[in-house]
Amino acid sequence: MSNGIGAVVDVVAATAPEVRAGLADRRAYTESENPSGDRQLAADVHADELLCERLLDVDAVGSYASEERDAVVEDDGRLHVACDPLDGSSNLKSNNAMGTLFGVYDAPLPAPGSALVAAGFALFGPVTTLVVARDGRVREWVLDGGDRRLLEDDLALPAEPTVYGFGGRRPEWTDAFAAYADRVAEELKLRYGGAMLGDVNQVLTYGGVFGYPGLRDRPEGKLRLLFEGHPIAFVVEAAGGASSDGERSLLELTPDRLHARTPLFVGDPGYVDDLEAALA
Ligand code: AHG
Ligand code: MN
Ligand code: MN
Repeated sequence: MSNGIGAVVDVVAATAPEVRAGLADRRAYTESENPSGDRQLAADVHADELLCERLLDVDAVGSYASEERDAVVEDDGRLHVACDPLDGSSNLKSNNAMGTLFGVYDAPLPAPGSALVAAGFALFGPVTTLVVARDGRVREWVLDGGDRRLLEDDLALPAEPTVYGFGGRRPEWTDAFAAYADRVAEELKLRYGGAMLGDVNQVLTYGGVFGYPGLRDRPEGKLRLLFEGHPIAFVVEAAGGASSDGERSLLELTPDRLHARTPLFVGDPGYVDDLEAALA
């Protein structure tokens, strides 16, 4: 198993700098939409094409699915990789953080969260970092000019929560969630940047909670369970945090279709417990 997961991580580590280098001249929208109905940037398509080709070249990888593709791309191998090739792509125009997210499953997709054997992300901030969770441990590297330098050998969510960020507009929130969010806003500092990876990395660094709740007219919320919920929950839970769809860990869920959406919360276990109590 390890050589397969290691090979997947090596592909992401090698491809992320190339995705980042390609952003500057791929800021335009294409004519196409992804299966979630989001308009596709040239950068989304570029990242997806690079990752699909290179990940399927790994012997152990038997299939590739992404937020940008209708269907799973089949090959043969025992690992199955789900990607959000560019999370936060609307931040490209405003030159803010974004990144590449991946989950490695040992079952065909869409799979239950319990089938995840590794997950992680590359984050395009002032520096490019790579965070990988596997075997119950989270490590972080700086990716710089082809080098991979270890930053954290055992990344853990800070015990003291400091920041929060919730997606959606306040009038779209349910009364129960709005009351919870008001309490959180009295205790923590607002950090919401429009890219889940950037916002969750703030939570992993400073402690706190991130979420994109179910909305009045969209109870399933915006974020995708397979491409965003599962991998980010795997990372945050391996770092000692918690995840929830409002009722249970995101890793207890199985998408009923490839692009299923879910309310998504990750971070401090106390705040996640409070959220579940508030929405009960
Ligand atoms: P993607 O660019 O992969 O579609 O993801 C964008 C997601 C997520 O990264 C972020 O938390 C959320 O959309 C932001 O949504 P709003 O623009 O509605 O705040
Ligand atoms: Mn995304
Ligand atoms: Mn995306």
